[in-house]
Amino acid sequence: MNKYILIGMLSLGIAACGGSQENTNTTEPVKSMVDTVAMQKEAKMAAGKLVYEKVCQACHQADGKGLSKMYPPLAHSDYLVADIPRAIAGVANGLNGEITVNGEKYNLVMPKAALTDVEIADAFTYVLHTFTDKGRIVLATEVAAVRK
Ligand code: HEC
Repeated sequence: MNKYILIGMLSLGIAACGGSQENTNTTEPVKSMVDTVAMQKEAKMAAGKLVYEKVCQACHQADGKGLSKMYPPLAHSDYLVADIPRAIAGVANGLNGEITVNGEKYNLVMPKAALTDVEIADAFTYVLHTFTDKGRIVLATEVAAVRK
């Protein structure tokens, strides 16, 4: 089994456990919920990094800066942060036609990624935290919502 699938499952497991803890002490549930979200972030970041290295990095590069005139940057990409669901849809369904990223025009093809909703969600969790100032957890349901 791939390492990132394992970590992805772990992150689902953590999410699934989140609501089931019962505690009569009023401060405890709040604390354990915070821990759970932090742990979910850790797991999704680790899994997303592996997806990024395996799939996205070949074009967008390890530093997320892309390749001039060919592959647009994810690092500080105005296109990405302006509309995150649109960016997710581009990866889930494929993207072609002219786009402008940080003032530069790109017009190549990004093939539809052969990845699950969880893998794409984790990759975006990693990308947003690592390369932009809009870092947040992206859920698999957000990918499912835009997948065609
Ligand atoms: C085969 C090369 C290739 C791979 C692999 C690839 N992309 Fe892309 N990506 C592109 C190209 C080319 C475009 C621009 C397409 C166009 O010109 O319409 C693009 C556009 C994007 C955009 C929107 C523009 C921007 O820079 O903000 C995002 C976000 C993105 N890719 C994320 C990803 C993620 C995440 C992965 C991995 C899951 C990935 N890409 C894998 C080539 C690739």
